[in-house]
Amino acid sequence: MGMYVFFWKNAVPVGEQFVTVCSNEDVSCHPTNLPYQDATRSTEERVVDLLGRMSLAEKIGQMALVEKDSLKHTNDIATYGLGAIMSGGGGKPTDNSPTGWQDMIQLFQTKSQMTRLQIPLLYGVDANHGHSNVPGATIFPHAIGLGATNNTELVKKIGIATAQEAEATGVNWIFSPNLDVTNDVRWGRTYETFGSNTETIAELGQAFIEGMNTVPTMLAGAKHFIGNGASEWGTSENKNFFIDQGNASVSEEELRYTHLAPFISAIDAGAKSIMIGLNQWNNEKIIFHTYLIQDVLKDELGFDGFVFSDWYGVYEGESNKSTALIRAINAGVDMVMLPYDYTQFSRIMHRAVQNGDISEARIDDAVTRILTVKFEKGLFDTTPTNVSDLDIVGSKKHKDLARIAVQQSLVLLKNNNVLPLSKKVRSLLIAGSSADNIGRQSGGWTVEWSGIDGNWIPGTTILEGIKNTVSPTTHIQYDLYGSFPKQTEKADVGIAIVGEMPYAEGWGDNAHPSLSEEDIETIEAVKAQSKKIVVIIVSGRPLDIAPYVDTWDAVVAVWLPGSEGIGIADVLFGDVPFTGKLPLEWKL
Ligand code: BGC
Repeated sequence: MGMYVFFWKNAVPVGEQFVTVCSNEDVSCHPTNLPYQDATRSTEERVVDLLGRMSLAEKIGQMALVEKDSLKHTNDIATYGLGAIMSGGGGKPTDNSPTGWQDMIQLFQTKSQMTRLQIPLLYGVDANHGHSNVPGATIFPHAIGLGATNNTELVKKIGIATAQEAEATGVNWIFSPNLDVTNDVRWGRTYETFGSNTETIAELGQAFIEGMNTVPTMLAGAKHFIGNGASEWGTSENKNFFIDQGNASVSEEELRYTHLAPFISAIDAGAKSIMIGLNQWNNEKIIFHTYLIQDVLKDELGFDGFVFSDWYGVYEGESNKSTALIRAINAGVDMVMLPYDYTQFSRIMHRAVQNGDISEARIDDAVTRILTVKFEKGLFDTTPTNVSDLDIVGSKKHKDLARIAVQQSLVLLKNNNVLPLSKKVRSLLIAGSSADNIGRQSGGWTVEWSGIDGNWIPGTTILEGIKNTVSPTTHIQYDLYGSFPKQTEKADVGIAIVGEMPYAEGWGDNAHPSLSEEDIETIEAVKAQSKKIVVIIVSGRPLDIAPYVDTWDAVVAVWLPGSEGIGIADVLFGDVPFTGKLPLEWKL
């Protein structure tokens, strides 16, 4: 027989899965003046009090992180007492505007307040380079470009700005920073990382978290623990992909030295949630790795926040979902990301606790960690955002910051006395697949998981930036493919802006990251009609340009600069010097 929650009004004798839901009219259903509701008490006291009042169903609900598109009904937030909701890459409200986000999250929070204990929700997003699911938000350079700036102050400010824009829309959890250490640029997630240098990654990651933490209600989600960037080519179990979600065969010493260090800095910086990667270490999945999660992360490093799983990571490739979930929870996973089915999660969890496969002590530990973070972040004691808070989204201040970040991220790969260009240059030919394309300059994780090709979001393209920078007397001709009419005299300078299409995760794995034939033809076409050729590469990683680079006069890596393409013109035309340094090796 199922457990009855009999001491609260409207208790639902529906077996194991549900928590008590109060009707809107019935105010007496919610207890008041309890110790956990008293903001003057210590977090510890509040957590102990609240935990002591919770049923098993309520505890299990807190351990669920549900992708919002999989909610069968928003009332399930109350019925299952869900602890957290999220938007995965591209997970957006029907009205994908800042107000649309605010309304959506507010509605979800309202549902959480229908439960008797009224535990607020965490709402998590991938704000990988600004609050980038939302058109109109400031889109900062992807992490690889920030790695090139190697500027902790700047990255801290970007952490603050991203947190502020997200907070205004009701978000209180961001699945960033990415602390992976890239080992192989064929990996499609290279651009999500600060590069390949552990020390730089640790410092920038720490700065980002410190920035985020200045916004009191915002929770940083450091990821992906651990060793994801060391996966080897061809070891991914999923045959669609080549390296992502693969296996790293490295010694423990190497794992600690290269890949653990950024997480140690993150914990020092006050990271209170850590996402477990979808990868393996020496053929063992990290998600089931008690030694790494419980012994190293929690016990040895003293991480007192909560650990959460990534996407379908607990179940991926596992024929027995129940065994997989039990293993993950017992390995130390406190909250489970559930992109598809939270009802199954609830069922397995109840059964596992009743059978003794998961101890109540483990559940209490997980829920204590989650509640502690919720109290520490002030979620129980804050008021909802309102429309005026949204002014910060895409504000001039943040766009100016993004422009500075773009300027500092540019790396001058080659320069035969061409750059910087004079603003008074007489004639310019501009061409290329990434010249007039905010989607390409923003890359993946921009409005959609894999980004969008084309000019769909507000911002300045690189072409527009150049047009706005040169003198009125400069004659600019632009053609996407460089098919210009035969010039009577060669242009002073040709600028070809080329690079990668947007992509995300394993879909970006690429055996030979390089320019497309079309891009090469465009460069040739521009070169043929220009006295000097400058090639600007818009990409998430180093591309193989070695066969051509000798015939080009200057080459600039601009990474994935985001919405403020004008920052590129600032440097090309000498208002700001080139200062960016390669965040990983680029063989020329
Ligand atoms: C990625 C994570 C991301 C999550 C939620 C996963 O596929 O690996 O980095 O945070 O999706 O969107």
